[in-house]
Amino acid sequence: MFITFEGGEGSGKTTLIKRITQELAHDHMVISTREPGGSVITEAIRDIILNPKYEGLTAHAEALLLAASRAQHLNDVIIPALNEGKIVLCDRYLDSSLAYQGYARDLGYPFILSINKLALDHMPDLTFYIDLNPDVGIKRISKRIKYDRLDRESASFHDLVREGYLEVSEMYPNRIRQIDGNQPLDDITEEILAQIRTVL
Ligand code: TYD
Repeated sequence: MFITFEGGEGSGKTTLIKRITQELAHDHMVISTREPGGSVITEAIRDIILNPKYEGLTAHAEALLLAASRAQHLNDVIIPALNEGKIVLCDRYLDSSLAYQGYARDLGYPFILSINKLALDHMPDLTFYIDLNPDVGIKRISKRIKYDRLDRESASFHDLVREGYLEVSEMYPNRIRQIDGNQPLDDITEEILAQIRTVL
C-alpha cells in the first residue's frame, strides 16, 4: 500500500509520518520516505531545488528537477518496497508538483502531468492532505534556523499553494482525504491511523 502526505509549510507532516510509521510498524512492514529526496541521488537533486543560493532556478527547471527526482525515487525506494509487500509512507509526491508548480507557479496541470508520466503509473492508494491556513504554518516554522528556497516565497505564493491543493483535492476525491490541520497532532494521528486501518 502506497500512502502519501501533502500540505503546505508547517502543516506537521513530518511529525505525523514519524508517529504513524511507529504505530503501523507494530504489525506491518512499513517504510517512510520523502520528496524531493529519499535516496542518495535524489537527495543531491533536492539540494539543487531547495538551496537558496540557486535563486535563478526557473519554474520549468524546478518542475523538471522534481520530476527527475521522483523518477529516481520510484526506482530506488518506492517500487522495490512495494514489491516487497511493504507499506510506503511518503512525505509529498505528485500532488505537491500539481499544487506548487502547476497551480502556484502557474505552469498548468497538463505540463506537470506530462513530465510525471512515470508517477502516473504509480499513484498512491491513499493521500492525506493536511489543510492549514498558510499564515499559521509559516508562523510554526519561523523558529527554524534555516529557511529553504521555497520557504522564502511570499505569503501570496503560499496562499496560492493552498488554493492549488484544494483544487487538486477536488480532482481526485476518491484518493485524497482532507484533514483539518488545526487539530492537535494526537487527534490528527488517530484520525489518519483509523482511516488507514479501514483500508488495510
Ligand atoms: P521540505 O523541507 O521537505 O518541506 P516540508 O517540510 O514543508 O515538506 O521541502 C520541500 C519543499 O519542496 C516544499 O517547500 C515543497 C516543495 N516541493 C514542490 O514545490 N514540489 C514538489 O513536487 C515537491 C515534492 C516539493
